[in-house]
Amino acid sequence: MTVARAAELIRNARRGLALTGAGVSAESGIPTFRGEGGLWTQYDPVKVASIEYFMADPSAYWKVSKDRGRVALAASPNPGHRALAALEASGRLVAVATQNTDGLHQDSGSHNVIELHGSGRTVMCLDCGNREARSEVQARLDVEMPPRCTLCGGIFLKPTVVLFGVPLPQPAIQQAFALAREADVMLVVGSSLVVYPAADLPLIALRSGAQLIVVNAEPTPFDELATVVVQGKSGEVLPEIAALIGG
Ligand code: OAD
Repeated sequence: MTVARAAELIRNARRGLALTGAGVSAESGIPTFRGEGGLWTQYDPVKVASIEYFMADPSAYWKVSKDRGRVALAASPNPGHRALAALEASGRLVAVATQNTDGLHQDSGSHNVIELHGSGRTVMCLDCGNREARSEVQARLDVEMPPRCTLCGGIFLKPTVVLFGVPLPQPAIQQAFALAREADVMLVVGSSLVVYPAADLPLIALRSGAQLIVVNAEPTPFDELATVVVQGKSGEVLPEIAALIGG
């Protein structure tokens, strides 16, 4: 029933916007941060994902990132990513704003992807600005910890992701805020909705009159503001919604 209601809202959307979080990639084998089995149940986010700690000891970051990076680079899109790409192709969604840095939305065929927290597929040297593919840095982590810049030898090689303590990329957040203000439907998928400013997007959309749909495995703080809440796995729920809508 809730799936049917979500499909009805999205079918009629003209300016739908999706916001995705780690949950959408869980079924691709990439662990989430919060919730059952989340990365932050094992590690303190400040110690492994803040710029302050990265600058103090890049190897502490890379020791955790080594496994996560390997898994993310090997991952493929799941049916949830593909359903979102289909909803964009059929004109129901104008964009996917994502907190994920894994690139799986692009791999699944979504064209307008706004990476709020950057991309984990590129690494940049904070000393000389040289960029390298993450896969190349990843490949030498077994013999080099922390990895060094191939150009200047510096040790501050950082994936082009947003760490805690650094502002979000301005063009991305501004574009996402503008689309949220214009949205008629806001579809949030696989996010705990506790990290801002990404979690401002549903608030902005609601204030502008959009209907909010939340698809998540666990309750979120925004559920009571939503028109429809579908509790479940995005890789199952989103294809059901897309199938009900059709082409
Ligand atoms: P979280 O890990 O905080 O939340 C993921 C949500 O997805 C949880 O509420 C899970 O219950 C839910 N979930 C798990 N599996 C799911 C599935 N198969 N289908 C649907 N939902 C599922 O991830 P985000 O909200 O993306 O930031 O986290 C936001 C930010 O916090 C991340 O971008 C990262 C993190 O710290 C930085 O590192 C800066």
